[in-house]
Amino acid sequence: MRVLIIGSGGREHALAWSISASPLLTALFVAPGNPGTANIATNVPISAKDIPALVAFAQDQKIDLVVPGPEAPLVAGIADALGEAGIRCCGPSAAAAQLEGSKRFTKEIADGAGIPTADWASFDDPDDAHDYVEDMGAPIVIKADGLAAGKGVVVAATLEEAHAAISAIMEDKVHGAAGAEVVIEECLVGEEISVFALCDGLDAIYLGSAADHKRVGDNDTGPNTGGMGAIAPAPWASAEVIEASMALIIRPALAEMAALGTPFRGFLFAGLMLTEAGPKLIEFNVRFGDPECETLLPLLRSDILPALLAATDGQLAHVDLRWRAGTSATVMLCAKGYPGAYATGGEIYGLEEAGALPGVTIFHAGTMLEQEAVLANGGRVLAVNAVGDNLRQAIELAYAAVDTIEWPDGFCRRDIGIRALHAT
Ligand code: AMP
Ligand code: GLY
Repeated sequence: MRVLIIGSGGREHALAWSISASPLLTALFVAPGNPGTANIATNVPISAKDIPALVAFAQDQKIDLVVPGPEAPLVAGIADALGEAGIRCCGPSAAAAQLEGSKRFTKEIADGAGIPTADWASFDDPDDAHDYVEDMGAPIVIKADGLAAGKGVVVAATLEEAHAAISAIMEDKVHGAAGAEVVIEECLVGEEISVFALCDGLDAIYLGSAADHKRVGDNDTGPNTGGMGAIAPAPWASAEVIEASMALIIRPALAEMAALGTPFRGFLFAGLMLTEAGPKLIEFNVRFGDPECETLLPLLRSDILPALLAATDGQLAHVDLRWRAGTSATVMLCAKGYPGAYATGGEIYGLEEAGALPGVTIFHAGTMLEQEAVLANGGRVLAVNAVGDNLRQAIELAYAAVDTIEWPDGFCRRDIGIRALHAT
């Protein structure tokens, strides 16, 4: 089986790492990939955005399965373009990717399917949006409708903040066209977890839960990031919570999407708030999380490739994945300054020693090679994962690996998993 992964981050390195262990695999390509994927696959210098070039490569190389990592190519229609060329893609069509591409679309799906979610309204006129928040009061949540690189959401504690968010999104257009419309939501209170499923249009299998650490600083301070670390399973994800999430959120969403003629295939990532009234949907993403992918896949015991094929072919009912008992923790090593401006080009030492520690796997996220040297080449640079028998052990192993890596320009949060450790 010849497989092409699309993307260049830690998530794509983890997917490549997992797929590369499959006995079914005959060739693995990553476009564009990174120095980590270069060790286990052939990197192809095509951007994840260049859909015609990716389709042409897949045809030329007789690729059997394409696995897109990030949302952008999915929202832009890579699954449709590959489908027209007769190539399988483990990801949703552009129409189904609206579950991530449009917040209003997701809320309409939730309402149509009776999925528990925050009360909401949407507006394309800023005056109406300002009037609505006056009526509703604070706290209240303001969201740009479209893709805004994870920065389109403001949880406004006061009316002043809510009005400022509406002005910034709709009038100053800080997220461009993504902010032509806003979704305004009731503010939910509870613990947040992420639930992952692999979907084949009708069926879904549970892939696990995780807790992300979005803020840049220890104790959840500072600006939001793409994710500074994650633990899996999420400590608040009891068997009942997971059952409810699959039965009340994931499966109804799939049924609604299929009924609308836009069946969902691929990784589905549900961001949930565990409220007093049970789990409620915050958002869907149409892809695996990053660094949640680097955190969950090291727990997988089964071959992932047959599951990805089954998801693509509508055959998931026959798939049963086995997982390792235990806990996984990922610490993201980032360039000082991230998520703001940062320097690139600093050399990183000690990766081999760190990667050889028990239970540890290091995924490259933003690196480049210069001769033999690994240099930083991004904001999130390395995802340092460890699997342990319990959360404490996973955290200790991950930080032991972090402390073995020498990179003066880097930093990480020092408290990944710590709040969960104390809460459970
Ligand atoms: P999103 O981009 O939709 O994941 O939102 C980013 C973050 O905003 C989420 O991870 C939550 O922490 C927060 N958030 C979004 N919607 C709500 C809501 N309705 N109530 C409370 N917090 C929310
Ligand atoms: N870590 C959150 C995300 O991948 O969107």
